[in-house]
Amino acid sequence: MIINFVDIKTLFLYIFTFFTKKHRFNFHILLMNQQQIDAFREALKFSPDNLPLRKLLAEALFNLARYDEALIEWKECLRLLPEDNELKVALAKTYFYQKNYTTAQYLLEEVVENHSYASAAMLLSKVLAELGELKQAKHYFDVAIQWDKGVYDKDFDDFLGRKIRDAGLAAPNDWVEEIETMVTHSNIEKPKISFKDVGGMEAVKEEIALKVIHPMKNPEIYKAFGKKIGGGILLYGPPGCGKTLLARATAGEINAHFISVGLNDVLDMWIGNSEKNLHNIFQEARQNAPCVLFFDEVDALGASRSDMRQAAGRFIINQFLDEMDGVKYSNEGVLILGATNSPWYLDSAFRRPGRFDRIIFVQPPDQKAREEIIKLQLLEKPTESVDVQSIAKQTADYSGADLRAVVDIAVESKLPESLKKGRVVPITNADLKNAVGRHKPTTKEWFATAKNYALYSNESGLYDDILKYLKLK
Ligand SMILES: Nc1ncnc2c1ncn2[C@@H]1O[C@H](COP(=O)(O)OP(=O)(O)OP(=O)(O)O)[C@@H](O)[C@H]1O
Ligand SMILES: [Mg+2]
Repeated sequence: MIINFVDIKTLFLYIFTFFTKKHRFNFHILLMNQQQIDAFREALKFSPDNLPLRKLLAEALFNLARYDEALIEWKECLRLLPEDNELKVALAKTYFYQKNYTTAQYLLEEVVENHSYASAAMLLSKVLAELGELKQAKHYFDVAIQWDKGVYDKDFDDFLGRKIRDAGLAAPNDWVEEIETMVTHSNIEKPKISFKDVGGMEAVKEEIALKVIHPMKNPEIYKAFGKKIGGGILLYGPPGCGKTLLARATAGEINAHFISVGLNDVLDMWIGNSEKNLHNIFQEARQNAPCVLFFDEVDALGASRSDMRQAAGRFIINQFLDEMDGVKYSNEGVLILGATNSPWYLDSAFRRPGRFDRIIFVQPPDQKAREEIIKLQLLEKPTESVDVQSIAKQTADYSGADLRAVVDIAVESKLPESLKKGRVVPITNADLKNAVGRHKPTTKEWFATAKNYALYSNESGLYDDILKYLKLK
């Protein structure tokens, strides 16, 4: 039936061209016409969730410079696969051609911040060049090539070079330095979420409040008692239990800036230049105080996984400790949070007073916390007679991320029916139950490892909380 609408040969050719990029351009010119587009649209009426087909349609529209329509299709694709970077880049590219540079920039920055996606970085460079942000454009141009030489674009290189010269910006030394700084810092933002967006974790929230939020809000009281504000908190625990989320929420809670540094990602890049770059990150936080400086995967500092890292490791650790101690520069107003799944790899020097002197175990959510998380995840989603309590009961050992996955599965299971009926069909308790059956908790593996450290390498009761959680103490 669907096939009737499409000349099969043409469709196959189309699919072929989609996957063999080499010949794509020629075939596209050959094939692009209204008839094909109609055929895709018709076929999609019968299977609206057919992602490959929708991508073809979006691509066809894009290639015909019908950007408005292409946008609609890319967005629809993203609704089906929200975290897909390739789709985000395709969407950004369409905005780029529409000259909607700021939206393109926004989309691409998100991709580039989290992934070493070279063509996204190159496109971002082009977007920034259009926006007149030449230094940043040059930065992302270099980053893109560093990630993958294959994305080098001679024409754009010339174009950017010309623009830079025209603007009288022939890169002086200080500019080079500035670019280096940009390579290392990740992103700075002011998170809009606060503690109320984090389900459960009451004890951890309280601890953070005591150590950082109250001092920030009432600095004069702390000063009166001669108490210095500073030091850091290290959050550790199984994956997906809200460490990163809580760190961002902490910044949101006190309306502070938030800088997140994924140490594993950037450490290799730092080798050779690590001390200066690490210093730059701390400086950026100091200049933006109040600021939460969040180091994710902080164990990367201790766990020298490659020879190269090993050699450089000691320097980085010393530098990190100096910066944390705030010897040369004051860390006033800078809250240092760290997170790790493997605290046992972390050099014990980090645990001295004034450094990560609070080490908090972020455990999988308990019954009440699970209820809260499920409620948060279901917020603004259509539901019908959902018994959150019973779902929470069935999800012991599930992390917050697991619970999110459960809700996602339930949502996905509801989409086809809703699309078919042409109206929103709410999520029921049965859907959620079903989804629980389809997603296993991911925290158990972590506890299998953690248990060994807690039992056999529990210096000064560091991991007592793990033992308590496992009811071994
Ligand atoms: N307490 C919570 N309240 C609400 N959502 C949560 C909670 N914990 C986890 N989530 C959900 O799970 C996602 C993953 O959590 P997060 O990234 O903070 O975990 P993590 O502990 O940092 O994991 P990892 O160790 O893998 O970095 C969050 O973005 C959020 O959607
Ligand atoms: Mg995390």
